[in-house]
Parts: sequence; C-alpha cells; structure tokens
Amino acid sequence: MTTTYRIAPSILSADFARLGEEVKSVIDAGADWIHFDVMDNHYVPNLTFGPMICQALKPHAKTVSGVAVPIDVHLMISPVDALAASFADAGADLISFHPDASAHVHRSIQTIKSKNVKAGLVFNPAEPLDVLEWTIDEIDLILIMSVNPGFGGQGFIDSALRKVELARQWIERSGRDIRLEVDGGIKTDNIRRVADAGADTFVAGSAIFGKPDYKGVIDQMRKALT
Ligand code: DX5
Ligand code: ZN
Repeated sequence: MTTTYRIAPSILSADFARLGEEVKSVIDAGADWIHFDVMDNHYVPNLTFGPMICQALKPHAKTVSGVAVPIDVHLMISPVDALAASFADAGADLISFHPDASAHVHRSIQTIKSKNVKAGLVFNPAEPLDVLEWTIDEIDLILIMSVNPGFGGQGFIDSALRKVELARQWIERSGRDIRLEVDGGIKTDNIRRVADAGADTFVAGSAIFGKPDYKGVIDQMRKALT
C-alpha cells in the first residue's frame, strides 16, 4: 500500500495580523491540514491562541473549490479536558494533547472522541511511548515532537527518528488506521529522513511561513517524499 503523505503547515510562524489570509494562502499552496499550536504559558513557556481564533479561522480552512481542510489542533496546555471540548465546538477536526499534561489521559481521549473529533497523543523528545500500551486502541493520531514544545524555528532533534520508528511499530501491531505525525524542525532537506523512519504527516512552521513562496516549499517537500 502506498502511503498518503500529509503536509500540515503550522500557523505559529504565520503573520498573526493576517491569519485568515495566511490560512487561505497556505491552502492554495497545497497544505493538507492546518496545524494550530495552542500554548498556555503554563505547560509551555509561551502563549498563543484559543478556541475563538480557531472558530474564526474555520471558514477560511477550505480549498478554492470549497473542500474543507482539516484543522489539526495541538494542545500544549494543562489541564486538557475543558479546552479540548471548546476546541471541538470551535471546529477542530483533530485534537492532540500531551499525556503528561492530563491527570486522566483516557478520560481526555474520551472527552475529545465524545465530540466526534479525532484524538491524538503527543510525545515530547524525552518522553517514552509507554502510555500507548493502554491507549492505542482509542486514538487516531500519534504526534512525535522533534523539538521541545513552545517555540517555532528550533533545530530537529535526531533521536526523534528512533521514536518515530518505534511508534510505527506500535501502529502496525495495532492494525489500526492511525496517523503518525512529526512536529518541529522539519525542512525540505530532512523530511525524507522523517518519512523513511515511518512518519506520514509532517508539521512545518518556519520552513514554510519563513519563505515568501509557500507553494515552492510545499512542492519541494512533496518532491522529496516521492
Ligand atoms: C512547537 C510547535 C510546532 C512549531 C513547529 O511547539 O508545536 O508546531 O510551530 O515550528 P517549526 O517547523 O518552525 O519547527
Ligand atoms: Zn505543533
């Protein structure tokens, strides 16, 4: 079976004064998902945007022909459940959270899924995947951090590749349809290595929004994946 790769630009590196336009431009440039980084100045040392911004951007998250583009919400917040529910109501299509940020991981997954939204778990660079033993049958996405969460524009941490390989083994053993996404420091020149390790979905913030030609970067990433 051939893998369907997805590129998920992170709007953390977009121009916040023109977020709606930026979402549209990056979708026109070929984005498959919109990655939406939520930071609370508590779980991570930075503060971004909440459910109201997600709701405001939702009508912009579609292609020129009107096909909806999924909003991939990455919660870097603690506690998780109340805001996860608000993001589901605000139009998120996937919601991922860090298991170490939730007192009751299984309950947080249930909270998200009860809203008919796909649920994901996110693993920091120094965190093991152990919790998957008890949650893999419930989740739709595994997100491996290849930087420490909190900021865009950091360098890729190589040990994440080994974790991606392990996560791929977990997914294969489960036999379930689970996306394997990687987040942090992904560029045109390392995306192939990340795919070779087993990832199928790639977050890229500064690599895309840091260049004037979004389509040029996304095309190069896709070319590297073929
Ligand atoms: C970091 C965020 C990332 C970030 C990636 O906490 O989760 O999504 O925007 O940015 P780049 O691609 O610049 O490393
Ligand atoms: Zn992210």
